[in-house]
Amino acid sequence: MMRTHRCGELRLDHVDTQVTLTGWVNRRREHGEHLAFVDIRDHSGVTQCVVDNDVDVRSEYVIKVTGTVVARTDDTVNRDLPTGEIELKDCDVEVLSIAEPPPFPMDQRADDVDELVRLKHRYVDLRRARMQKNLRVRSQVNAAIRSAMVGQDFVEVETPMLMPSTPEGAREFLVPSRQRPGNFYALPQSPQLYKQLLMVGGLDRYFQIARCLRDEDLRADRQYEFMQLDLEMSFVDVDDVLSAAEIGVLDAAEAVTGVRPDAVERMTWHDAMERFGSDKPDLRFGMELVELTPIFAETGFKAFSTAGSIKAIKVDEGADQYGRNKLDGLTDEAKSFGAKGMVWLKIRAGESGDLEFESPVAKFLSETETTAIIAATGAAEGDLVLVIADEWSTTCEVLGELRNRIGRPPVSEGPYKYLWVTDFPLFVGVDATSGRPKPGHHAFCQPHPDDIESLESDPMSVRAQAYDLVLNGWELGSGSIRIHDPKLQRRVFELLGIDEEEADRRFGFFLEPFKYGAPPHGGFAYGIDRLAAILAGEENIREVIAFPKPQSGIDPLTGAPGPVDDGQLEELGIRLLPPAT
Ligand code: AMO
Repeated sequence: MMRTHRCGELRLDHVDTQVTLTGWVNRRREHGEHLAFVDIRDHSGVTQCVVDNDVDVRSEYVIKVTGTVVARTDDTVNRDLPTGEIELKDCDVEVLSIAEPPPFPMDQRADDVDELVRLKHRYVDLRRARMQKNLRVRSQVNAAIRSAMVGQDFVEVETPMLMPSTPEGAREFLVPSRQRPGNFYALPQSPQLYKQLLMVGGLDRYFQIARCLRDEDLRADRQYEFMQLDLEMSFVDVDDVLSAAEIGVLDAAEAVTGVRPDAVERMTWHDAMERFGSDKPDLRFGMELVELTPIFAETGFKAFSTAGSIKAIKVDEGADQYGRNKLDGLTDEAKSFGAKGMVWLKIRAGESGDLEFESPVAKFLSETETTAIIAATGAAEGDLVLVIADEWSTTCEVLGELRNRIGRPPVSEGPYKYLWVTDFPLFVGVDATSGRPKPGHHAFCQPHPDDIESLESDPMSVRAQAYDLVLNGWELGSGSIRIHDPKLQRRVFELLGIDEEEADRRFGFFLEPFKYGAPPHGGFAYGIDRLAAILAGEENIREVIAFPKPQSGIDPLTGAPGPVDDGQLEELGIRLLPPAT
């Protein structure tokens, strides 16, 4: 190495040794007539060097400094810096590269710089302590999960990036074929199909740290390209998959935080919806949904008498925090989430000392109903109760959204709350054009054994052996036990309105292998970007990706996507339409 130590390493123990450091000039300050302080920085930290002031180095020059470690005097010790008790003197400075002034400051002030500027100069942004830490967290996560999987006898297999177009949910990125003009490969949304074929191929336990690509709108937790820890196992049930997957996630968390999380709690999808109004409940805060439906069995209040499900959330001490404007805002939000309206009740002490409601609907509620609502919600004076009355799923979902709006801390704020949500419904909703049920996860999920009988008679009640892993209200991963019996697969396809001819046309290459002896199998995949972001204390996965795309999808660093030569298009048999106006 060109250096003897890293810039964050030197301590009082090193006093009187001669050392050589390499790195970037973090800061230069003149010190009297003849000397200057130059802070040299690498990924590990900063060391102050005392140099002759005729040495021509400026911010972000790349230098090599050889000098002697000396203790700083008491009045110059910097307690905020791990190397703050020493400095280098008698320095010989060699400039390895000169540099233009950086486009933004290299400390935390850069966090407020426009993200497009940070991404345009990502190679400079990456030098900052925050990004250095984040990429190292990510690397620790990768290392921990790879070793957890290998330790459990999983075999790492790479699956193709060029595959046929398949209906997997999101929009695909397509790659035109030169040798067969007019035909396209698709980039994998996930290795789903191949990993199932690996089970037919007898691999038994597969994993991959897999790059996946989906052409969907970018958000804090979504990129076009992202990484999954993808796994699949043969001869297993749900418990086997959850335990194997959990070990990787918890090992990664422990590697980064130094603390092993407790075994992950489990909750059925139905309970998660009932209690938290969400299939990815954030368990870091309470505000659980409270069931009020039976209280209104005989009510004269019209908005409640016709509703199938009436539930509420309680906002502690919300009565004074939520004035008219804020409540109108919440009501509008509730409507935007699908509710017909929202009832709010502020809990006040009446003249007699009894609790009563301050609310536009107070007069429509009987004394018995009022008392029962207060008892059910456990509301006290000064609290606010928000009520939604609708059909069950709307009531739950709207209250779940309101609960998050009001109570949810930033995703990266501890403590870490992991949760398995199990028994998702096999179908969710009905396709507007075909009138058929739509698959909840995908068309290959194994129904719950107790519900298979109801597949045709009551499909919407059928649970799937499908599960999600949730962390602080973010979906971290999804998976299921798969159908391995072609007859059952045909029944599910029929319910989805896919006949044998269509199934063969769309999924033939996938279904054919199952005729040759498919073991029962199931799997799971979780987002490494999401896990790394939360463990790094970041709100956006872009902060844990070296070269992410901003929301527009256009990379400010490389300018991609960009046009290509006519010759390249010609070779691919592609002629462009004029731009849409
Ligand atoms: P699913 O589509 O739920 O399941 O994806 C699994 C996990 O991948 C992550 N993820 C993303 N991360 C960043 N940007 C994106 N655009 C993005 N999309 C998904 C999430 C998500 O939970 N083949 C199935 C898994 C299986 O059944 O085994 C699958 O891909 O963390």
